[in-house]
Amino acid sequence: MKKIKVAILGATGYTGAELVRMLVRHSYIELSTLTTRQYVGKKFSQVFPSFTGICDIVCTENNDPDSIDADLVFSALPHHESAPIVGELVKSGKKVIDLSADFRIKSENTYKKWYGDHPCFDLVGEAVYGLPEIYREEIVKANLIANPGCYPTSVLLPLYPLIKEGIIDLNRIIVDSKSGVSGAGRGLSLKTHFCEVYGGFKAYNVTVHRHQPEIAEQASFFAKSPVDIIFTPHLLPIKRGILSTIYVNMKGNFEEKEIYNIYKQYYSKERFIRIFEEDLPTIESVVGSNFCDIGFKVEKNTKTIIIISTIDNLIKGASGQAIQNMNIMFGFPEESSLENIPLFP
Ligand SMILES: NC(=O)c1ccc[n+]([C@@H]2O[C@H](COP(=O)([O-])OP(=O)(O)OC[C@H]3O[C@@H](n4cnc5c(N)ncnc54)[C@H](OP(=O)(O)O)[C@@H]3O)[C@@H](O)[C@H]2O)c1
Repeated sequence: MKKIKVAILGATGYTGAELVRMLVRHSYIELSTLTTRQYVGKKFSQVFPSFTGICDIVCTENNDPDSIDADLVFSALPHHESAPIVGELVKSGKKVIDLSADFRIKSENTYKKWYGDHPCFDLVGEAVYGLPEIYREEIVKANLIANPGCYPTSVLLPLYPLIKEGIIDLNRIIVDSKSGVSGAGRGLSLKTHFCEVYGGFKAYNVTVHRHQPEIAEQASFFAKSPVDIIFTPHLLPIKRGILSTIYVNMKGNFEEKEIYNIYKQYYSKERFIRIFEEDLPTIESVVGSNFCDIGFKVEKNTKTIIIISTIDNLIKGASGQAIQNMNIMFGFPEESSLENIPLFP
């Protein structure tokens, strides 16, 4: 198979570097362009010495859509920075996978409320929300993928089968998520300063986190009716990983075995989703991999299912999922470059 050329915009951030790490060993692609803002003219291996002898491509500032030589572009730029460039790239006929939030929200009012004005909202309609386990058929045909947010991935994958089966109350779903610090990106900020994070644990952006409307919108698409989500994120003093605890009320009395069977019915063929029957997932069992692990317990007195899901925010929550989308779009084996086994210990 002829190799395709791939460019990564924002390659010197955490998700960009993670794309490089996984793509350098991909059999069907060749990296053509890596862009940066601060490290123009430096080899990628000078920015990240762990890549010495592995990726010595010189980083450029070239975010100019006309001169990017690639069949596929990953944009790992911040939201608002991404949309104008991605818009031009798509209009010039290139396929794009955007890791930012710019093309994820389908409602213009919702986007505006949470993110402000959008430079090319006309393209949002053609963007496919890149959750392969749910939208694989649309991804095959897509030119523009809106790669999902990290928290939404950890929440939507476990909710999907329960919503589709109509067995849970959609008026009050409570999501309590915890993320490692790499979720905030590589840029410097007091909030992610070592002394502000290490040895502590805190909730942040309570009632105002931008992933709430993304989760609620997608969950409502699954249900074909509005779904109310209460979402509270927390910052864990670790580098990577997300654990989401999700509380849903059942519309009847279901045994754990029945819930397990529903999950198996939806996901038993999915390479990157692991359903736990007895144990509960942990962050350390997914870090370094593209897995989403899902476990649950039924609390019969209150008719509640308590679901625990874990992902690596930089892999299944970002770059791994983006590569999974690319593999589907181009007809490569879906697991190409994604077979990493979790790092623990
Ligand atoms: N981190 C996660 O877990 C995660 C998960 C899912 C989705 N995302 C999304 O993925 C995107 C990238 O996230 P990240 O965590 O990789 O961020 P990051 O570490 O801050 O990296 C951002 C990249 O974009 C470049 N950049 C920053 N501001 C720019 C500007 N004004 N103009 C041009 N380039 C600029 C940076 O260049 P320099 O390196 O030169 O500064 C860097 O290469 C974001 O939209 C984020 O919301 C992140």
